Amino acid sequence: MRDYRSINEKLQALTRDVPYPLANLANAAALLWQEMTGLNWAGFYLLAAEDRLVLGPFQGLPACIEIAVGRGVCGTAVARGETVVVPDVHDFPGHIACDEASRSEIVVPLRADGQIVGALDLDSPEKGFFDEDDRFGLERFAGILTAGWPGRVPPALL
Ligand code: SME
Repeated sequence: MRDYRSINEKLQALTRDVPYPLANLANAAALLWQEMTGLNWAGFYLLAAEDRLVLGPFQGLPACIEIAVGRGVCGTAVARGETVVVPDVHDFPGHIACDEASRSEIVVPLRADGQIVGALDLDSPEKGFFDEDDRFGLERFAGILTAGWPGRVPPALL
């Protein structure tokens, strides 16, 4: 089990009074990468248009730049408006493989002012790495990160 209490306190401390969403997203990706062992990718996709996610700050291998809403795990989480936990990506039809090492994945929609503005995406080479504790902890993480954003991606990020 990951210590989300500690991770989320660190995120609060890192982002408190920082009015720069890009800096906060970059630090958030780095924080997850440092604090969680067993990941091979950690980062963000941002809603650049109603139907399109675009790669944001991340750690890990270079990744695909655009994902259509409704496609892959990221686009599915955004289309459904809920977190998607995939124990084995080989069993998820339409999974987009950016890193062949990825075996399990969790995608948490990012919400600001009630609107979906993007997604947090974590990948692990281990099957079944993510569970309900991750869902709960990362949904809180996402909420801390977008507190104060308007209900859309800040234009400076696109
Ligand atoms: N696997 C994701 C694509 C993004 S990479 O994992 C970084 C998906 O199916 O949406």
